[in-house]
Amino acid sequence: MSEPTLVVSKIRAGTVIDHIPAGRALDVLKIIGLSGREGIRTAIIMNVESKKLGRKDIIKVEGKFLKQQEVSVIALIASTATINIVEDFKVVKKFNVEIPELIEEVITCPNTTCITNKGNEPVKSRFTVVSRKPITLQCSYCGTLVFEDELHRLIKV
Ligand code: CTP
Ligand code: ZN
Repeated sequence: MSEPTLVVSKIRAGTVIDHIPAGRALDVLKIIGLSGREGIRTAIIMNVESKKLGRKDIIKVEGKFLKQQEVSVIALIASTATINIVEDFKVVKKFNVEIPELIEEVITCPNTTCITNKGNEPVKSRFTVVSRKPITLQCSYCGTLVFEDELHRLIKV
């Protein structure tokens, strides 16, 4: 007998972030700035079966549409995610997240002596993409490399 499926209702209008790697949904929620206290109807579905990924997470947010910047940051910690825009219960737009060439402000450099970490120096962090699969970024100021598995804890929110 096959495993029972978890059924979650469709949304009327808003955003469905699908194919999030299993266990990453809460990191994605942090990026889009949802704490739950905003009163926005949200479904968080974690560790469900996926044909493509084995297991995946899904987030459905009623009435919210993401900014380009938020989509770029999601790409850093959930590169397999697809964004579905829903209107009148139908998916009207579907796209994959994409890592931008330059990542400014959103990641903290892990080098504590980097100029971007000096409290009174107003220098925004800035990373270039060295590799996309697996993700490797490089700080434009001190050259420190940041690898995929450390990204989730370096995201500023
Ligand atoms: N969805 C939703 N509410 C809607 C329409 C879609 O919550 N009114 C959700 C679906 O449950 C699914 C995601 O949005 O998790 C994408 O929907 P759809 O494109 O219909 O599904 P698939 O074809 O399975 O998507 P994909 O090919 O991207 O896997
Ligand atoms: Zn640095």
